[in-house]
Amino acid sequence: MSIDNDETGARADDHYEPTSPWWLSGTPLEAEHHRLMRRRSVPIPWAETTVAALTDAERARLAGTWMRRAEAEYLAVSTFSVLAIDLVAALAPADVLSLCLRAGIDEVRHAEMCIRMAQIYSGVQHLPPPGMSSLPDDPQRPKLHQALANTMLVSCVSETYATTVLSATRDLTTDPVAQAVLTSIYSDEVMHARLGWSYLRHAIEVGGQGVIDAAAEMLPRALRGVANVVERERPAGEVTEAVRVHGLMTPAEERVIYSTCVREVLVPGFEALGIPVGTAVADYGDVWANAA
Ligand SMILES: [Fe+2]
Ligand SMILES: [Fe+2]
Repeated sequence: MSIDNDETGARADDHYEPTSPWWLSGTPLEAEHHRLMRRRSVPIPWAETTVAALTDAERARLAGTWMRRAEAEYLAVSTFSVLAIDLVAALAPADVLSLCLRAGIDEVRHAEMCIRMAQIYSGVQHLPPPGMSSLPDDPQRPKLHQALANTMLVSCVSETYATTVLSATRDLTTDPVAQAVLTSIYSDEVMHARLGWSYLRHAIEVGGQGVIDAAAEMLPRALRGVANVVERERPAGEVTEAVRVHGLMTPAEERVIYSTCVREVLVPGFEALGIPVGTAVADYGDVWANAA
C-alpha cells in the first residue's frame, strides 16, 4: 500500500485489475478504458474484505451507504464535465482545463470502486440511476464569473469538504478494502480541491474586484449547497461499531466536520484571497453543528 504510483506507469500496471468489468461496454473501447484507469490505479486488496464478520443488518447499512457514494461519484462525473464547459467558455488556463477533465475521469474511477464496495456488502450487481448534477447557470453574467462561481461550489467548497470528511472517516476505518478505497479517493479529491483554489486565485488576478464581488455573492450558495448534502437523510440502519470500521460515520459527526471545515479551512481560505465571508462562521457554527 506504500506504492506511490501516480506518475509511475510501470508499477501501476503490475497491480491493475478491472474494478467493475460488468459495467463496461463489451466493445473494444474497454482496452482504452483500462489504459486510462491504469494510470490512476492504486492497489486495492479486494480479497481481504472482512465483510464475513458482519450481520445482515450491518451489511445492508453499508451497502446502502456505499451505493449512495456510488451515486454521488457518478454525478460528480457530470459536475466536472459541466465545469469544464464553463472553464472553456471563460478561457481558463490549459492546466486548469486538463486537471478539470482529468477530475471527471477520476470520478468514473471512484464510481467504479464504490459500486464494487456496494456489491461486496449487498452481494448484487447494482448501478446508480441515470442522471446528472445541475449547476447554477446564468447566461447574463460574464463567463469568468460563471466559471468561478461554479468552481467555488464544485471544487473549493464541495471537494475541500470531501477531503476533510474522507480523512476523518479513513482514520476510523480498519477494514483493509474500505481503507484502501477511501485512501485512493481521498488522494484524488485533494487535487480536485486544489484545482478550484488555484483557479480562484487566477480569476482574481485576471478579473480584480468584479471577481471578488461575484465570489462573495456565490459563497453563501456554495456553502448551503454542500450543507444540503450533509443534512440529507441517510440509509436506514444503525451505525454500529462494526459498521464504522468499514468506513462510515454518523450524520451528527459529519455535521461537526463540516462546521469545523467551514471555520478552519474554507473561511480562512476565502479570506486569504480577499473574499468577504459574511456570516459563514455563524451560519455553520455550534447551533447548526449540533442540530442533528
Ligand atoms: Fe470523487
Ligand atoms: Fe472529486
